[in-house]
Amino acid sequence: MNRRPQIEGSLFGGDNSSDFKVDVDSYISDGRFFTEAINQSKRLPTNYVGNKKRIVIEIMRFLQQEKVEFENVFDAFSGSGVVSVFMALLKKRVTSNDLLTSSALQISCLLEGKASPLSQSEWYAILDRVPKRDYAHFSKENYLVKPKLFTPDEADFLDRYRANVADLFGDTFWCGQPFNGGYNLITYADRKPLDVAEVIRGHPKANYALYAMLKHLNDVCFVGGRFYSGQTLAQLEHRLDHSRNHGHELHKTFLKTVKKLWFPRIEYPAGGGFSLFNSDIMELLKSGALPVGGDLLYLDPPYGGDSSDYASLYRYLEEFVHGKKLEDPSLQVVKTAGDRFKEKNGYDEQFSELLALCGHYKHWLISFNASSFSGLEGITEIIKRFRSQVVVYEVPIKYKYREERKLSTDREYLLLART
Ligand SMILES: C[S@@+](CC[C@H](N)C(=O)[O-])C[C@H]1O[C@@H](n2cnc3c(N)ncnc32)[C@H](O)[C@@H]1O
Repeated sequence: MNRRPQIEGSLFGGDNSSDFKVDVDSYISDGRFFTEAINQSKRLPTNYVGNKKRIVIEIMRFLQQEKVEFENVFDAFSGSGVVSVFMALLKKRVTSNDLLTSSALQISCLLEGKASPLSQSEWYAILDRVPKRDYAHFSKENYLVKPKLFTPDEADFLDRYRANVADLFGDTFWCGQPFNGGYNLITYADRKPLDVAEVIRGHPKANYALYAMLKHLNDVCFVGGRFYSGQTLAQLEHRLDHSRNHGHELHKTFLKTVKKLWFPRIEYPAGGGFSLFNSDIMELLKSGALPVGGDLLYLDPPYGGDSSDYASLYRYLEEFVHGKKLEDPSLQVVKTAGDRFKEKNGYDEQFSELLALCGHYKHWLISFNASSFSGLEGITEIIKRFRSQVVVYEVPIKYKYREERKLSTDREYLLLART
């Protein structure tokens, strides 16, 4: 396979500037930090399915309209992390959670709010060296035929990359779990989920290195159109033929992604920071690990319509991070907890169970859309079983990755319920 892909110029310089200007909708201009938060969050790298990048401004507009005051927010299904990052930029105290490790890992690097800690020579070392160990050929063994995601060189590149990250930055990368070890993030030493933010800081380089690869895979392999084998990553030939790739294999363009890595700049108050969990939301809420007395809870679960099976959508990314198939018994929780909100059938029960666990949050802000498990009335009715005051805000939005593009379904709703 190719050794270090050749690119022009230096890897670094000029990437983390905030000279990017966008038109900020003038109807909200409350805080000192608002314009900066909008400008920075527009730069956030995300093509995450169901991400709320386009509506963070509407979220704030709605909260202002309803005079919701809050200092802390729990983003319980944080996905790409855009809402968490936006709130952190607004100087709110953020707690974030997502079931997928691949998502939580990306959020951890974004919420850190700093540039990547890897030097140019460290990036080149990850790409150039031959791993010390007899490394696992996970991508090669599983993704060369049916589903065919990679060329043999690409699969080798991915497997070596992962092994080199482990060799160079330690055999644990996150939450103190073995790099090739089991799914332990809910970390039930004593059935208490760990706030992984602290632990991640112990392994920053490995996390940023994995972040870069996850971002690269999302950028070059998720080319839109119909999902392939239920995954966002496109079938090999389709991806290579796509105008985004011009036939280039993914290792040839990796350094371009590294060069363009950008992270928001977040200043946390002294002693402050963020908390991050990587857990099934039900288990987390039951665990007692979350701070009591939260101001704002943001619920953006999979809607139970199309594209709601996130474990399948992001299967390869999750498997890359863990180094094993989702079918491995140690990853069973990703499948089972991922099933909770993936289809209409049984959604009502799961959603009610979820709300029943959230009583201690003063405000609930809930996202849904018109093709969710139930219509707006049905969803409101469920929420009203728990809280009598529900305000609905309608956000018109166009979906990129959905089949239903009819106007009647192009609606995103925000529902606010107070104690
Ligand atoms: C609609 S997306 C959230 C999008 C996010 N608000 C954003 O702006 O990117 C739903 C998220 O819920 C996560 N999820 C699914 N089932 C879950 C569960 N049982 N516990 C926690 N997170 C879950 C998925 O991994 C996915 O990232």
